[in-house]
Amino acid sequence: MAEDIPGPRKLPLLGNLLELNDGTGSIIGSFERLCDAYGPIYQVSIAGSRRVIIGSADLLEEMTDEKRFVKVPPEVRRGSDRPKGLFTATNEDPDWAQGHRILMPAFAPLSVHDMFADMKDIANQLILSWARKGPENRILVTDDLTKLTLDTIALCTMSYRFNSFYTESLNPFVEAMMATFKINNDLATKPAFVKKLMVKKMAENEKHFAFMNKVGLDIVENRRANPTEKKDVLNTMIYGKDPKTGHVMRDDLIVAQMTTFLIAGHETTSGLLSFAMANLLKNPHTYLKAQQEVDAVLGSRTIEVTDIKNLKYLNAVLRETARLTPTVPFLQKHVNPQDTTGFVTVERGRYRIKHDDQIIILVGKCQRDPKVWGETACEFIPERMYDENFDKVMAAYPGAWKPFGNGKRACIGRPFAWQESMLVMAMILQSFDVKLDDPNYELKIKQSLTIKPDDFYIRVTPRKRLD
Ligand code: HEM
Repeated sequence: MAEDIPGPRKLPLLGNLLELNDGTGSIIGSFERLCDAYGPIYQVSIAGSRRVIIGSADLLEEMTDEKRFVKVPPEVRRGSDRPKGLFTATNEDPDWAQGHRILMPAFAPLSVHDMFADMKDIANQLILSWARKGPENRILVTDDLTKLTLDTIALCTMSYRFNSFYTESLNPFVEAMMATFKINNDLATKPAFVKKLMVKKMAENEKHFAFMNKVGLDIVENRRANPTEKKDVLNTMIYGKDPKTGHVMRDDLIVAQMTTFLIAGHETTSGLLSFAMANLLKNPHTYLKAQQEVDAVLGSRTIEVTDIKNLKYLNAVLRETARLTPTVPFLQKHVNPQDTTGFVTVERGRYRIKHDDQIIILVGKCQRDPKVWGETACEFIPERMYDENFDKVMAAYPGAWKPFGNGKRACIGRPFAWQESMLVMAMILQSFDVKLDDPNYELKIKQSLTIKPDDFYIRVTPRKRLD
Protein backbone atom coordinates (compact mmCIF):
# COMPACT_ATOMS: atom_id res chain seq x y z
CA MET A 1 0.00 0.00 0.00
CA ALA A 2 1.51 3.34 -1.09
CA GLU A 3 1.93 6.11 1.49
CA ASP A 4 1.11 9.79 1.03
CA ILE A 5 4.13 11.83 0.00
CA PRO A 6 4.82 14.18 2.94
CA GLY A 7 4.84 17.96 2.58
CA PRO A 8 3.77 21.26 4.13
CA ARG A 9 0.08 22.07 4.44
CA LYS A 10 -1.14 24.03 1.41
CA LEU A 11 -3.28 27.15 1.49
CA PRO A 12 -6.28 27.67 -0.79
CA LEU A 13 -5.27 29.52 -3.99
CA LEU A 14 -1.68 30.14 -2.81
CA GLY A 15 -0.71 26.51 -2.35
CA ASN A 16 2.79 26.54 -0.82
CA LEU A 17 3.99 29.80 -2.31
CA LEU A 18 4.62 31.34 1.09
CA GLU A 19 7.10 28.62 2.05
CA LEU A 20 8.92 29.07 -1.26
CA ASN A 21 9.05 32.86 -1.10
CA ASP A 22 10.43 32.87 2.42
CA GLY A 23 12.23 36.19 2.04
CA THR A 24 15.71 34.70 1.62
CA GLY A 25 15.67 35.48 -2.12
CA SER A 26 16.77 31.97 -3.09
CA ILE A 27 14.17 29.48 -4.27
CA ILE A 28 16.74 26.71 -4.28
CA GLY A 29 17.51 27.49 -0.62
CA SER A 30 13.80 27.32 0.27
CA PHE A 31 13.40 23.98 -1.51
CA GLU A 32 16.45 22.60 0.29
CA ARG A 33 15.22 23.77 3.69
CA LEU A 34 11.88 22.05 3.06
CA CYS A 35 13.84 18.92 2.21
CA ASP A 36 15.53 19.09 5.62
CA ALA A 37 12.10 19.40 7.24
CA TYR A 38 10.09 16.80 5.25
CA GLY A 39 12.72 14.37 3.95
CA PRO A 40 14.23 13.52 0.55
CA ILE A 41 10.85 13.25 -1.18
CA TYR A 42 8.07 15.72 -0.46
CA GLN A 43 5.26 17.47 -2.26
CA VAL A 44 4.33 21.12 -2.65
CA SER A 45 1.63 22.84 -4.61
CA ILE A 46 2.77 25.59 -6.98
CA ALA A 47 0.52 27.45 -9.39
CA GLY A 48 -2.21 24.88 -8.81
CA SER A 49 -0.19 21.80 -9.68
CA ARG A 50 1.52 19.24 -7.49
CA ARG A 51 5.31 19.18 -7.58
CA VAL A 52 7.23 16.26 -6.17
CA ILE A 53 10.63 17.31 -4.90
CA ILE A 54 13.58 14.92 -4.84
CA GLY A 55 16.68 15.33 -2.67
CA SER A 56 18.69 12.11 -2.26
CA ALA A 57 21.19 10.16 -4.38
CA ASP A 58 19.06 6.99 -4.30
CA LEU A 59 15.97 8.80 -5.53
CA LEU A 60 17.99 10.65 -8.19
CA GLU A 61 19.17 7.26 -9.42
CA GLU A 62 15.53 6.13 -9.71
CA MET A 63 14.75 9.27 -11.71
CA THR A 64 17.39 8.34 -14.31
CA ASP A 65 15.30 5.32 -15.33
CA GLU A 66 14.07 6.60 -18.69
CA LYS A 67 11.38 3.95 -18.92
CA ARG A 68 9.66 5.55 -15.94
CA PHE A 69 10.70 9.23 -16.07
CA VAL A 70 11.44 11.72 -18.87
CA LYS A 71 12.58 15.33 -19.06
CA VAL A 72 10.12 18.22 -18.88
CA PRO A 73 11.58 21.07 -20.93
CA PRO A 74 11.92 24.29 -18.96
CA GLU A 75 9.01 26.69 -18.60
CA VAL A 76 10.85 29.31 -20.67
CA ARG A 77 9.37 28.48 -24.04
CA ARG A 78 6.60 26.06 -23.28
CA GLY A 79 3.41 27.05 -25.03
CA SER A 80 5.11 29.09 -27.75
CA ASP A 81 5.25 27.91 -31.35
CA ARG A 82 8.86 29.01 -31.79
CA PRO A 83 11.19 26.28 -33.05
CA LYS A 84 12.85 24.61 -30.08
CA GLY A 85 16.57 24.10 -29.70
CA LEU A 86 17.88 20.87 -28.17
CA PHE A 87 17.47 22.05 -24.59
CA THR A 88 13.84 23.15 -24.79
CA ALA A 89 12.38 20.53 -27.16
CA THR A 90 10.37 17.59 -25.90
CA ASN A 91 11.55 14.01 -26.46
CA GLU A 92 8.79 13.53 -29.04
CA ASP A 93 9.71 16.60 -31.13
CA PRO A 94 11.27 15.43 -34.45
CA ASP A 95 13.42 18.60 -34.40
CA TRP A 96 15.07 17.31 -31.20
CA ALA A 97 15.92 13.96 -32.82
CA GLN A 98 17.30 15.61 -35.95
CA GLY A 99 19.36 18.13 -33.95
CA HIS A 100 20.68 15.39 -31.67
CA ARG A 101 21.83 13.21 -34.59
CA ILE A 102 23.51 16.07 -36.48
CA LEU A 103 25.09 17.75 -33.46
CA MET A 104 26.32 14.90 -31.24
CA PRO A 105 29.43 14.21 -33.39
CA ALA A 106 30.23 17.96 -33.51
CA PHE A 107 30.49 18.04 -29.68
CA ALA A 108 32.26 14.69 -29.25
CA PRO A 109 35.61 14.81 -27.37
CA LEU A 110 37.74 14.59 -30.54
CA SER A 111 35.87 17.45 -32.23
CA VAL A 112 36.28 19.47 -29.04
CA HIS A 113 40.06 18.80 -29.11
CA ASP A 114 40.13 20.63 -32.43
CA MET A 115 38.62 23.69 -30.72
CA PHE A 116 41.52 23.97 -28.27
CA ALA A 117 43.35 26.77 -30.13
CA ASP A 118 40.23 28.94 -30.22
CA MET A 119 39.57 28.25 -26.53
CA LYS A 120 43.13 29.29 -25.73
CA ASP A 121 42.77 32.45 -27.80
CA ILE A 122 39.94 33.71 -25.56
CA ALA A 123 41.58 32.42 -22.36
CA ASN A 124 44.64 34.50 -23.28
CA GLN A 125 42.41 37.57 -23.53
CA LEU A 126 41.23 36.96 -19.96
CA ILE A 127 44.81 36.49 -18.72
CA LEU A 128 45.98 39.69 -20.43
CA SER A 129 43.03 41.67 -19.10
CA TRP A 130 43.70 40.45 -15.52
CA ALA A 131 47.43 41.13 -15.90
CA ARG A 132 46.61 44.71 -16.90
CA LYS A 133 44.36 45.12 -13.88
CA GLY A 134 47.15 44.01 -11.55
CA PRO A 135 46.78 43.61 -7.77
CA GLU A 136 45.59 47.22 -7.27
CA ASN A 137 42.16 46.51 -8.77
CA ARG A 138 39.62 44.05 -7.54
CA ILE A 139 37.97 41.77 -10.11
CA LEU A 140 34.34 40.63 -10.12
CA VAL A 141 35.08 37.03 -11.05
CA THR A 142 31.68 36.00 -12.36
CA ASP A 143 31.47 38.93 -14.81
CA ASP A 144 34.84 38.26 -16.36
CA LEU A 145 34.29 34.51 -16.55
CA THR A 146 30.92 35.13 -18.18
CA LYS A 147 32.65 37.26 -20.81
CA LEU A 148 35.16 34.47 -21.30
CA THR A 149 32.66 31.65 -21.67
CA LEU A 150 30.34 33.59 -23.98
CA ASP A 151 33.23 34.56 -26.27
CA THR A 152 34.56 31.00 -26.19
CA ILE A 153 31.33 29.25 -27.16
CA ALA A 154 30.70 31.80 -29.93
CA LEU A 155 34.21 31.58 -31.37
CA CYS A 156 34.51 27.80 -31.14
CA THR A 157 31.11 26.90 -32.52
CA MET A 158 30.32 29.73 -34.96
CA SER A 159 33.67 31.47 -35.51
CA TYR A 160 32.01 34.63 -34.24
CA ARG A 161 33.74 37.16 -31.98
CA PHE A 162 31.70 39.00 -29.35
CA ASN A 163 34.94 40.74 -28.23
CA SER A 164 33.60 41.08 -24.69
CA PHE A 165 37.05 41.87 -23.25
CA TYR A 166 37.16 45.06 -25.27
CA THR A 167 34.15 46.59 -23.47
CA GLU A 168 33.55 47.36 -19.82
CA SER A 169 29.88 46.32 -19.67
CA LEU A 170 28.34 42.89 -20.28
CA ASN A 171 27.40 42.08 -23.85
CA PRO A 172 23.78 43.06 -24.75
CA PHE A 173 23.10 39.37 -25.52
CA VAL A 174 24.02 38.50 -21.93
CA GLU A 175 21.92 41.37 -20.59
CA ALA A 176 18.88 40.14 -22.57
CA MET A 177 19.45 36.58 -21.47
CA MET A 178 19.74 37.52 -17.80
CA ALA A 179 16.56 39.58 -18.08
CA THR A 180 14.63 36.59 -19.49
CA PHE A 181 16.05 34.33 -16.76
CA LYS A 182 14.86 36.77 -14.13
CA ILE A 183 11.39 37.14 -15.62
CA ASN A 184 10.97 33.38 -15.94
CA ASN A 185 12.25 32.83 -12.42
CA ASP A 186 9.71 35.34 -11.12
CA LEU A 187 6.92 33.71 -13.13
CA ALA A 188 7.80 30.17 -12.07
CA THR A 189 6.26 30.50 -8.62
CA LYS A 190 3.29 32.71 -9.49
CA PRO A 191 -0.21 31.18 -9.65
CA ALA A 192 -1.63 30.88 -13.17
CA PHE A 193 -4.15 33.72 -12.68
CA VAL A 194 -1.36 36.13 -11.62
CA LYS A 195 0.76 35.10 -14.62
CA LYS A 196 -2.11 35.97 -16.95
CA LEU A 197 -2.17 39.49 -15.52
CA MET A 198 1.54 40.07 -16.04
CA VAL A 199 1.07 41.22 -19.63
CA LYS A 200 3.86 43.79 -19.48
CA LYS A 201 6.39 41.28 -18.18
CA MET A 202 5.42 38.81 -20.91
CA ALA A 203 5.85 41.48 -23.58
CA GLU A 204 9.24 42.38 -22.14
CA ASN A 205 10.20 38.72 -22.24
CA GLU A 206 9.21 38.51 -25.91
CA LYS A 207 11.31 41.57 -26.68
CA HIS A 208 14.39 39.98 -25.11
CA PHE A 209 13.80 36.70 -26.98
CA ALA A 210 13.42 38.58 -30.24
CA PHE A 211 16.74 40.34 -29.64
CA MET A 212 18.57 37.07 -28.88
CA ASN A 213 17.00 35.50 -31.95
CA LYS A 214 18.18 38.40 -34.08
CA VAL A 215 21.77 37.90 -32.86
CA GLY A 216 21.55 34.23 -33.94
CA LEU A 217 19.93 35.07 -37.28
CA ASP A 218 22.57 37.69 -38.10
CA ILE A 219 25.28 35.10 -37.50
CA VAL A 220 23.63 32.55 -39.84
CA GLU A 221 22.97 35.14 -42.56
CA ASN A 222 26.49 36.44 -42.32
CA ARG A 223 27.85 32.88 -42.74
CA ARG A 224 25.65 32.22 -45.76
CA ALA A 225 26.87 35.48 -47.30
CA ASN A 226 30.53 34.71 -46.45
CA PRO A 227 30.99 30.93 -46.55
CA THR A 228 34.15 29.43 -45.01
CA GLU A 229 35.76 26.00 -45.18
CA LYS A 230 36.08 25.89 -41.40
CA LYS A 231 34.67 22.72 -39.85
CA ASP A 232 32.83 24.51 -37.04
CA VAL A 233 29.47 23.63 -35.53
CA LEU A 234 27.69 26.29 -37.58
CA ASN A 235 28.89 24.76 -40.86
CA THR A 236 27.89 21.33 -39.55
CA MET A 237 24.37 22.66 -39.06
CA ILE A 238 24.21 24.48 -42.41
CA TYR A 239 25.64 21.68 -44.58
CA GLY A 240 25.40 18.53 -42.43
CA LYS A 241 22.77 15.94 -43.30
CA ASP A 242 20.75 13.99 -40.79
CA PRO A 243 22.22 10.44 -41.05
CA LYS A 244 18.73 8.96 -40.67
CA THR A 245 16.64 11.09 -43.05
CA GLY A 246 19.27 12.76 -45.23
CA HIS A 247 17.60 16.13 -44.58
CA VAL A 248 19.48 19.34 -43.75
CA MET A 249 18.47 21.57 -40.85
CA ARG A 250 16.02 24.44 -41.41
CA ASP A 251 17.40 27.95 -40.88
CA ASP A 252 14.94 28.80 -38.10
CA LEU A 253 16.06 25.66 -36.28
CA ILE A 254 19.74 26.51 -36.79
CA VAL A 255 19.07 29.87 -35.14
CA ALA A 256 17.26 28.17 -32.25
CA GLN A 257 20.21 25.78 -31.78
CA MET A 258 22.67 28.67 -31.82
CA THR A 259 20.87 30.70 -29.20
CA THR A 260 20.62 27.47 -27.19
CA PHE A 261 24.40 27.00 -27.32
CA LEU A 262 25.00 30.62 -26.43
CA ILE A 263 22.66 30.36 -23.45
CA ALA A 264 23.29 26.79 -22.27
CA GLY A 265 26.98 26.96 -23.08
CA HIS A 266 28.22 29.91 -21.12
CA GLU A 267 26.29 30.69 -17.90
CA THR A 268 26.77 27.12 -16.73
CA THR A 269 30.50 27.00 -17.43
CA SER A 270 31.22 30.42 -15.96
CA GLY A 271 29.38 29.32 -12.80
CA LEU A 272 31.48 26.14 -12.58
CA LEU A 273 34.71 28.13 -12.99
CA SER A 274 33.68 30.78 -10.46
CA PHE A 275 32.69 28.23 -7.84
CA ALA A 276 35.94 26.31 -8.44
CA MET A 277 37.95 29.50 -7.85
CA ALA A 278 35.93 30.29 -4.71
CA ASN A 279 36.48 26.76 -3.37
CA LEU A 280 40.23 26.91 -3.95
CA LEU A 281 40.53 30.30 -2.28
CA LYS A 282 38.38 29.33 0.71
CA ASN A 283 40.58 26.22 1.14
CA PRO A 284 44.12 27.55 0.59
CA HIS A 285 45.81 24.13 0.86
CA THR A 286 43.81 23.03 -2.21
CA TYR A 287 44.84 26.18 -4.10
CA LEU A 288 48.49 25.41 -3.39
CA LYS A 289 48.11 21.78 -4.42
CA ALA A 290 46.40 22.72 -7.71
CA GLN A 291 49.02 25.34 -8.49
CA GLN A 292 51.85 22.93 -7.71
CA GLU A 293 50.34 20.38 -10.07
CA VAL A 294 50.05 22.95 -12.85
CA ASP A 295 53.68 23.99 -12.28
CA ALA A 296 54.84 20.36 -12.35
CA VAL A 297 52.97 19.55 -15.57
CA LEU A 298 53.46 22.83 -17.48
CA GLY A 299 56.39 24.70 -15.94
CA SER A 300 56.34 28.02 -17.74
CA ARG A 301 55.49 26.67 -21.18
CA THR A 302 52.13 27.22 -22.80
CA ILE A 303 49.44 24.59 -22.23
CA GLU A 304 48.59 22.04 -24.97
CA VAL A 305 45.52 19.85 -25.31
CA THR A 306 47.55 16.76 -24.37
CA ASP A 307 48.35 18.30 -20.95
CA ILE A 308 44.72 18.22 -19.82
CA LYS A 309 44.69 14.50 -18.99
CA ASN A 310 47.74 14.97 -16.72
CA LEU A 311 46.07 17.57 -14.50
CA LYS A 312 44.40 15.01 -12.28
CA TYR A 313 44.02 17.12 -9.17
CA LEU A 314 42.50 19.98 -11.15
CA ASN A 315 40.07 17.51 -12.69
CA ALA A 316 39.12 16.40 -9.17
CA VAL A 317 38.69 20.07 -8.12
CA LEU A 318 36.16 20.62 -10.92
CA ARG A 319 34.30 17.40 -10.17
CA GLU A 320 34.07 18.25 -6.48
CA THR A 321 32.88 21.76 -7.33
CA ALA A 322 30.21 20.41 -9.69
CA ARG A 323 29.10 18.11 -6.88
CA LEU A 324 28.76 20.78 -4.19
CA THR A 325 27.20 23.50 -6.35
CA PRO A 326 25.91 22.10 -9.66
CA THR A 327 25.31 25.17 -11.81
CA VAL A 328 22.10 23.70 -13.22
CA PRO A 329 20.46 23.37 -9.81
CA PHE A 330 17.20 21.64 -10.84
CA LEU A 331 16.29 18.88 -13.25
CA GLN A 332 12.62 18.65 -14.11
CA LYS A 333 10.95 15.39 -15.06
CA HIS A 334 7.59 13.76 -15.29
CA VAL A 335 6.30 10.22 -15.58
CA ASN A 336 7.01 8.81 -19.04
CA PRO A 337 3.76 9.40 -20.98
CA GLN A 338 4.25 5.97 -22.57
CA ASP A 339 3.62 4.40 -19.20
CA THR A 340 0.01 3.24 -19.24
CA THR A 341 -0.54 2.45 -15.59
CA GLY A 342 -1.46 6.02 -14.54
CA PHE A 343 1.32 6.32 -11.96
CA VAL A 344 4.72 4.90 -11.13
CA THR A 345 6.14 4.12 -7.73
CA VAL A 346 9.47 4.96 -6.13
CA GLU A 347 11.31 3.62 -3.08
CA ARG A 348 10.17 0.06 -3.83
CA GLY A 349 6.50 0.91 -4.07
CA ARG A 350 6.42 3.25 -1.07
CA TYR A 351 5.27 6.40 -2.92
CA ARG A 352 3.18 6.94 -6.05
CA ILE A 353 4.02 9.63 -8.61
CA LYS A 354 1.19 10.42 -11.01
CA HIS A 355 1.30 11.46 -14.65
CA ASP A 356 0.35 15.07 -14.01
CA ASP A 357 2.88 15.55 -11.19
CA GLN A 358 5.91 17.63 -11.99
CA ILE A 359 9.11 16.31 -10.49
CA ILE A 360 11.83 18.72 -9.41
CA ILE A 361 15.19 17.15 -8.62
CA LEU A 362 17.38 19.25 -6.32
CA VAL A 363 20.66 18.17 -7.88
CA GLY A 364 22.91 19.78 -5.25
CA LYS A 365 20.97 18.28 -2.36
CA CYS A 366 21.15 14.83 -3.99
CA GLN A 367 24.89 15.21 -4.61
CA ARG A 368 25.58 16.23 -1.00
CA ASP A 369 23.84 13.14 0.38
CA PRO A 370 25.49 12.06 3.66
CA LYS A 371 24.57 8.44 2.89
CA VAL A 372 27.13 8.62 0.06
CA TRP A 373 29.75 11.06 1.38
CA GLY A 374 29.36 10.74 5.17
CA GLU A 375 29.72 13.61 7.63
CA THR A 376 31.93 15.61 5.29
CA ALA A 377 29.30 15.65 2.52
CA CYS A 378 29.18 19.46 2.43
CA GLU A 379 32.95 19.98 2.57
CA PHE A 380 35.28 20.62 -0.35
CA ILE A 381 37.58 17.58 -0.54
CA PRO A 382 38.82 17.13 -4.13
CA GLU A 383 40.78 13.94 -3.31
CA ARG A 384 37.56 11.93 -3.18
CA MET A 385 37.08 12.75 -6.85
CA TYR A 386 40.27 11.09 -8.16
CA ASP A 387 39.22 8.55 -10.79
CA GLU A 388 39.77 5.50 -8.60
CA ASN A 389 37.64 6.91 -5.73
CA PHE A 390 35.02 8.45 -7.99
CA ASP A 391 34.50 5.25 -9.98
CA LYS A 392 33.95 3.27 -6.79
CA VAL A 393 31.35 5.73 -5.48
CA MET A 394 29.55 5.85 -8.82
CA ALA A 395 29.41 2.05 -8.96
CA ALA A 396 27.80 1.95 -5.50
CA TYR A 397 25.55 5.03 -5.95
CA PRO A 398 24.92 5.84 -9.63
CA GLY A 399 22.88 8.90 -8.59
CA ALA A 400 25.73 10.41 -6.57
CA TRP A 401 27.02 12.82 -9.27
CA LYS A 402 24.80 14.05 -12.12
CA PRO A 403 25.65 17.73 -12.75
CA PHE A 404 25.28 17.20 -16.52
CA GLY A 405 21.90 15.46 -16.35
CA ASN A 406 21.30 11.92 -17.57
CA GLY A 407 20.42 9.60 -20.42
CA LYS A 408 19.56 10.80 -23.88
CA ARG A 409 18.83 14.32 -22.61
CA ALA A 410 22.20 14.66 -20.88
CA CYS A 411 24.37 17.68 -21.67
CA ILE A 412 25.74 17.63 -25.20
CA GLY A 413 28.33 20.27 -24.24
CA ARG A 414 29.96 18.33 -21.38
CA PRO A 415 33.31 17.59 -23.15
CA PHE A 416 33.37 21.21 -24.33
CA ALA A 417 32.69 22.66 -20.88
CA TRP A 418 35.21 20.36 -19.23
CA GLN A 419 38.05 21.06 -21.64
CA GLU A 420 37.41 24.80 -21.44
CA SER A 421 37.27 24.76 -17.63
CA MET A 422 40.47 22.71 -17.29
CA LEU A 423 42.30 24.98 -19.72
CA VAL A 424 41.17 28.22 -18.09
CA MET A 425 41.83 27.10 -14.50
CA ALA A 426 45.30 25.86 -15.48
CA MET A 427 46.14 29.13 -17.23
CA ILE A 428 44.94 31.24 -14.28
CA LEU A 429 46.91 29.16 -11.76
CA GLN A 430 50.00 29.25 -13.95
CA SER A 431 49.82 33.01 -14.52
CA PHE A 432 48.72 34.47 -11.18
CA ASP A 433 48.72 34.28 -7.46
CA VAL A 434 45.05 34.86 -6.69
CA LYS A 435 43.65 36.17 -3.40
CA LEU A 436 40.17 36.89 -2.09
CA ASP A 437 39.48 40.63 -2.08
CA ASP A 438 37.69 40.18 1.25
CA PRO A 439 39.55 37.50 3.25
CA ASN A 440 36.31 36.87 5.19
CA TYR A 441 34.20 36.30 2.06
CA GLU A 442 31.50 33.72 2.76
CA LEU A 443 30.15 31.97 -0.33
CA LYS A 444 26.77 33.41 -1.26
CA ILE A 445 24.73 32.00 -4.12
CA LYS A 446 22.99 34.05 -6.75
CA GLN A 447 20.30 32.23 -8.68
CA SER A 448 18.79 32.91 -12.07
CA LEU A 449 18.15 29.71 -14.06
CA THR A 450 21.67 28.70 -13.16
CA ILE A 451 23.57 29.49 -9.96
CA LYS A 452 26.84 31.34 -9.41
CA PRO A 453 28.72 32.93 -6.51
CA ASP A 454 27.41 36.36 -5.55
CA ASP A 455 29.61 39.40 -4.88
CA PHE A 456 32.76 37.35 -5.36
CA TYR A 457 35.81 39.60 -5.86
CA ILE A 458 39.47 38.63 -6.17
CA ARG A 459 42.83 40.31 -6.67
CA VAL A 460 45.55 38.84 -8.86
CA THR A 461 49.32 39.23 -8.89
CA PRO A 462 51.12 38.07 -12.05
CA ARG A 463 53.60 35.26 -11.32
CA LYS A 464 55.77 35.56 -14.40
CA ARG A 465 56.31 37.96 -17.25
CA LEU A 466 53.63 37.47 -19.85
CA ASP A 467 54.64 37.65 -23.47
C1 HEM B 1 21.75 19.92 -21.30
C2 HEM B 1 24.50 21.08 -17.51
C3 HEM B 1 27.68 23.24 -20.48
C4 HEM B 1 24.63 22.60 -24.16
C5 HEM B 1 22.25 20.03 -20.04
C6 HEM B 1 21.65 19.43 -18.87
C7 HEM B 1 22.41 19.78 -17.80
C8 HEM B 1 23.50 20.58 -18.30
C9 HEM B 1 22.18 19.40 -16.36
C10 HEM B 1 20.38 18.59 -18.83
C11 HEM B 1 19.20 19.48 -18.54
C12 HEM B 1 17.91 18.74 -18.37
O1 HEM B 1 17.87 17.53 -18.25
O2 HEM B 1 16.89 19.43 -18.35
C13 HEM B 1 25.60 21.77 -17.99
C14 HEM B 1 26.70 22.23 -17.17
C15 HEM B 1 27.60 22.83 -18.01
C16 HEM B 1 27.06 22.76 -19.35
C17 HEM B 1 26.80 22.05 -15.66
C18 HEM B 1 28.92 23.46 -17.72
C19 HEM B 1 29.61 23.29 -16.62
C20 HEM B 1 27.16 23.21 -21.75
C21 HEM B 1 27.84 23.69 -22.94
C22 HEM B 1 26.97 23.54 -23.97
C23 HEM B 1 25.76 22.93 -23.44
C24 HEM B 1 29.25 24.27 -23.00
C25 HEM B 1 27.30 23.91 -25.38
C26 HEM B 1 26.76 23.60 -26.41
C27 HEM B 1 23.59 21.83 -23.70
C28 HEM B 1 22.48 21.39 -24.52
C29 HEM B 1 21.66 20.61 -23.71
C30 HEM B 1 22.27 20.59 -22.39
C31 HEM B 1 22.28 21.73 -26.00
C32 HEM B 1 20.38 19.90 -24.12
C33 HEM B 1 20.72 18.53 -24.63
C34 HEM B 1 19.49 17.75 -25.08
O3 HEM B 1 18.49 17.74 -24.37
O4 HEM B 1 19.58 17.13 -26.14
N1 HEM B 1 23.39 20.71 -19.66
N2 HEM B 1 25.84 22.12 -19.29
N3 HEM B 1 25.92 22.74 -22.09
N4 HEM B 1 23.44 21.33 -22.43
FE1 HEM B 1 24.68 21.65 -20.89
